Amino acid sequence: MCHLNLIILVQMFCKSWLLVGLFILLNILVLYFTAITLEARKWQKMVRKTGNPHVAYPQNYRFILDQPKKCEQQKPFVVIIVPVAPQNVKARNAIRITWGSEELVRDKVVLVLFLLGSQSGNETLQEQLQNESEEYQDLLQSNFLDSYRNLTIKTLVMMEWLNRNCPQASYGAKVDADVLLNMKNLLHMLVSLKSLQHNYITGLVLSGNIVLRDPSSKFYVPHDAYPKSRYPPYPLGMCYIFSMDLPEKILHISRHIRPIFIEDAYLGMCLKRLGIAPKKPPNIGQFVVKPPQRFNRYVCFFIGTDLEKFHVTCSPIDPLQ
Ligand SMILES: *[C@@H]1O[C@H](CO)[C@@H](O)[C@H](O)[C@H]1NC(C)=O
Ligand SMILES: *[C@@H]1O[C@H](CO)[C@@H](O)[C@H](O)[C@H]1NC(C)=O
Ligand SMILES: *[C@@H]1O[C@H](CO)[C@@H](O)[C@H](O)[C@H]1NC(C)=O
Repeated sequence: MCHLNLIILVQMFCKSWLLVGLFILLNILVLYFTAITLEARKWQKMVRKTGNPHVAYPQNYRFILDQPKKCEQQKPFVVIIVPVAPQNVKARNAIRITWGSEELVRDKVVLVLFLLGSQSGNETLQEQLQNESEEYQDLLQSNFLDSYRNLTIKTLVMMEWLNRNCPQASYGAKVDADVLLNMKNLLHMLVSLKSLQHNYITGLVLSGNIVLRDPSSKFYVPHDAYPKSRYPPYPLGMCYIFSMDLPEKILHISRHIRPIFIEDAYLGMCLKRLGIAPKKPPNIGQFVVKPPQRFNRYVCFFIGTDLEKFHVTCSPIDPLQ
């Protein structure tokens, strides 16, 4: 009798502890999911206010306009890709008749191609692009939405294209549409590198650039998207040059680093993970953000020798009207 009572007592004791245990577990679960929901709400609110710092990559973007055989046929030494908005035909034409018109520099073949995203719903524009592409055969258009916040996608799509279509070229370069490139100086720089470079990327290298945490800044990146206070070194996006072994490596590592919208800073994040430090150009004075005052764009366009005097390889010109 006494023995049986004891068993019942023990059973009751166990049951109540089981209940208490369950209760605690339930509470922990509730707290956990509340925290997750709150965090998600906070993120959604931030995204509504300042835009998503992450970009939609990788996805299966495809090319609507393409030149898949161009590299194979022309065997360029350097391929220069100019990211440009679909509607900015003026910039493309200006580049075509100025620095983009040179095809053979110091006995080296150079290839200049424009890279565009899409603008859905404007069929006139798309037809114009189709026509422009047939006329000049220098357009690459991918089907992601072309926007400022999608420039990182453009860069990664550029890397995909180069990796797929130009493995035999020695160098690639990304040059913005508002930059004046001095082709002769660029080729001089590349040819005078002692040997063919690997793991090489150069431009106006920024080191220790601070991550902007002010939500009103154009370059605001929240802590959750990139926790460190400074970006790794990266070449300024307006103009950088890289050895052709890099696109594949950058694409590969980018699968492990969620892309943020700041294209060049993201490139720096990839390079850092690859253990590749961007190099200063042989002559740092060749990459300038602010060209000498008296260089208005017309001088830049037509007096190439003057530019050489100033050793300008890359310098922005006024955005073309
Ligand atoms: C479509 O593109 C054409 C040509 O670039 C432009 O003139 C027009 O304003 C665009 N329309 C819309 C709705 O964006
Ligand atoms: C594209 O080219 C065709 C044939 O030359 C022409 O008929 C058409 O008007 C052009 N489209 C645009 C939008 O310029
Ligand atoms: C970037 O492109 C993707 C794919 O086209 C699109 O879904 C997204 O809305 C674009 N983002 C911005 C900010 O334009």
